[in-house]
Amino acid sequence: MRRFIVTGGAGFIGSNFVRMFLEAHPDYEVTVLDKLTYAGNLENLKGLQDHPRFRFVKGDICDPGLVDGLAAEADCILNFAAESHVDRSLLEPGAFIQTDVFGTWVLLEAAKKHGHERFLQVSTDEVYGHVDEGRSTETDPLAPRSPYSASKAGGEMQVWAYRDSFELPVVITRGSNNYGPYQYPEKIIPLFITNAVDDLPLPIYGTGKALRDYIHVDDHCRGIDVVLHKGQLGETYNLGAGGQTDGNQVADTVLEVLGKPSTLKQFVADRPGHDYRYCLDNSKARALGWELEYDVPSGLRQTVRWYQENEWWWRPLKSGEFWEFYKRNYRAAPPAGAPAG
Ligand code: NAD
Ligand code: TYD
Repeated sequence: MRRFIVTGGAGFIGSNFVRMFLEAHPDYEVTVLDKLTYAGNLENLKGLQDHPRFRFVKGDICDPGLVDGLAAEADCILNFAAESHVDRSLLEPGAFIQTDVFGTWVLLEAAKKHGHERFLQVSTDEVYGHVDEGRSTETDPLAPRSPYSASKAGGEMQVWAYRDSFELPVVITRGSNNYGPYQYPEKIIPLFITNAVDDLPLPIYGTGKALRDYIHVDDHCRGIDVVLHKGQLGETYNLGAGGQTDGNQVADTVLEVLGKPSTLKQFVADRPGHDYRYCLDNSKARALGWELEYDVPSGLRQTVRWYQENEWWWRPLKSGEFWEFYKRNYRAAPPAGAPAG
């Protein structure tokens, strides 16, 4: 394994992964294939453009001709590309099925044709659906409940089909909720941070009691690297931190670190079909030697500081298209004081 295609490498997790991966493996070459949707951003890869072992290709994983040509010059595909936001999947599910299911199939077909050494699918804990109690283990049944999680489960099924039917050397990771630098400000943590910086309300769905197992993106990326190199072929690995944090706690921590008043918390209509709890058993991945470096309070503090110091990165994103989505999703006009698009 030396020549890697990283799809979705201009997104949040993909770009953090590519930086770490090129540094950790001095002989690896990376081609990022990314369509640059609203969530893809070349600024996320700033500084890498001239890297001798890096190249960027703008394109769609659903384009078989393009994917085939790139796969002919590679040994492995790491599939990060996806439509990734649950709320957008409730408004416009079609793109999720297209990229997360059909696109995954296009990549698998190319990996098979060119005899690739590995295919790593970056999946999510959301495929388990809402979990009442205990921790999800890799053998638990999949019970996705949103168009996003159903499309990710569909992608996984394609991966299993290519393992079982064609002996493709695959592995799947199921990450929990990531946070950290370069996360598009629609997910709860960057949305709450950037809204609070501007004294805008933090929209908390329902009671704010839904629980997530938040993981710092650096820990997730190192976990993917460990699974790629040490994971058993054909297996799935949960990559979660194992904690439980609810929406109120996220809001309170962000407001405390920024020194903003709790009156910015605003309870809004709940998300339809809201999964109230995810929680991963991460022991299988830890048995490979993967170790976590962040706990949620310190990771959140670091992340708040990053957004404070990098307004140049997120301010341009909170403009026209973002507020159009905001209006539709929160069924409200952009909050008073929101910058015009
Ligand atoms: P993101 O939305 O920030 O980035 C996705 C990237 O994929 C973008 O750069 C986008 O331009 C690209 N893309 C979308 N459709 C494409 C297509 N058809 N062809 C090529 N590129 C395309 O997402 P993220 O948060 O970085 O998530 C990356 C992966 O990790 C996804 O597969 C997601 O399901 C998974 N995941 C995310 C989380 C999380 O908390 N964010 C947790 C677990 C798993
Ligand atoms: P999100 O960041 O969208 O990730 P996911 O739904 O994929 O887990 O949401 C995380 C949690 O935060 C989830 O319980 C929904 C909640 N949430 C809010 O309360 N308000 C918001 O504006 C958003 C985006 C999420």
